[in-house]
Amino acid sequence: LRDKALESIGSVSSLKQLQDVHVRYLGKKGPITEVLKGMGKLAKEERPVIGQLANDVRKAIGVWIEEKKAELEAGVLEAQLESEKIDVTLPGRKAQIGAHHLLASVIREVEDLFIGLGFSIAEGPEVEEDYYAFEALNLPKDHPARDMQDSFYITDEILLRPHTSPMQARTLEAHKGEGPVKIICPGKVYRRDNDDATHSHQFMQIEGLCVDKNVRLSDLKGVLTVFAKHMFGAEREIRLRPSFFPFTEPSVEMDISCFRCGGHGCAVCKGTGWIEILGAGMVHPNVLRMSGFNPSVYTGFAFGMGPERIAMLKYGIEDIRNFYTDDIRFLKQFKRA
Ligand code: PHE
Repeated sequence: LRDKALESIGSVSSLKQLQDVHVRYLGKKGPITEVLKGMGKLAKEERPVIGQLANDVRKAIGVWIEEKKAELEAGVLEAQLESEKIDVTLPGRKAQIGAHHLLASVIREVEDLFIGLGFSIAEGPEVEEDYYAFEALNLPKDHPARDMQDSFYITDEILLRPHTSPMQARTLEAHKGEGPVKIICPGKVYRRDNDDATHSHQFMQIEGLCVDKNVRLSDLKGVLTVFAKHMFGAEREIRLRPSFFPFTEPSVEMDISCFRCGGHGCAVCKGTGWIEILGAGMVHPNVLRMSGFNPSVYTGFAFGMGPERIAMLKYGIEDIRNFYTDDIRFLKQFKRA
């Protein structure tokens, strides 16, 4: 029995198997227990001899099992250490670091400039009331200029804003007739366009509004000149062309001298030397009045620009859809430190 047990223990290769061997030889139904249980049937003089023998065998087997157990446990630890070994001399794996989306970068650049000029950032709802989107901007219900902005209506009175100009009315209203008001408002806008390389049903705008006593067209021109030079280079000049928006009077469109050819004419400016950048004007007295400002005390200017257009011009991007499809190969090109 002793030799058989020794053999069994020797051939064991896991702690689980060792446990089985333990039960088999020393358990309640094991041979040693049987022997000890059967002692009563033995002759008196045989009992101490057999008892001694059984106890010796049990002890011996117990010791071997303990030894084997220690050996197996050491093996498990060894294997664990081996599998968890770290080669500290291996070169590190480079973490992939994200970056701002190009559109976000352009918006930040514009925001930083205007914050430097004393403007603050305002944000407003994309789901807008007809009142702020049109009515308060001097576009009554039957105004023909409403057709210019084919909007996504949700109900008769609620729509996805087709421009960021509703924030002019909302901001003025919040100031309760007291200037100065100086904000820029970046945000998403929506129009019913079929998406192609130059149209998108959703894009972004940055609105600007400055209302105070004695704000003039020359102030608008000064601010826009600083903006053009900041975004497109110190040599840029601007020109204001007459235009029309219901919420500004007079209204203008701002061109910058072409940053590619310097104004001589090239493909970028289609030979004209000028590139159209944004719409602007002096806030219409009706807009001031409807939002609680006295137009004989306060005047102001407003402008609206498209950051996609600015980015496309600046970086020669030909398809507006590049901004929205999140192709990492496109985005990576504009990663900045
Ligand atoms: N909201 C006008 C547009 O979407 C832009 C604009 C803003 C014009 C502010 C004048 C003043 O085209």
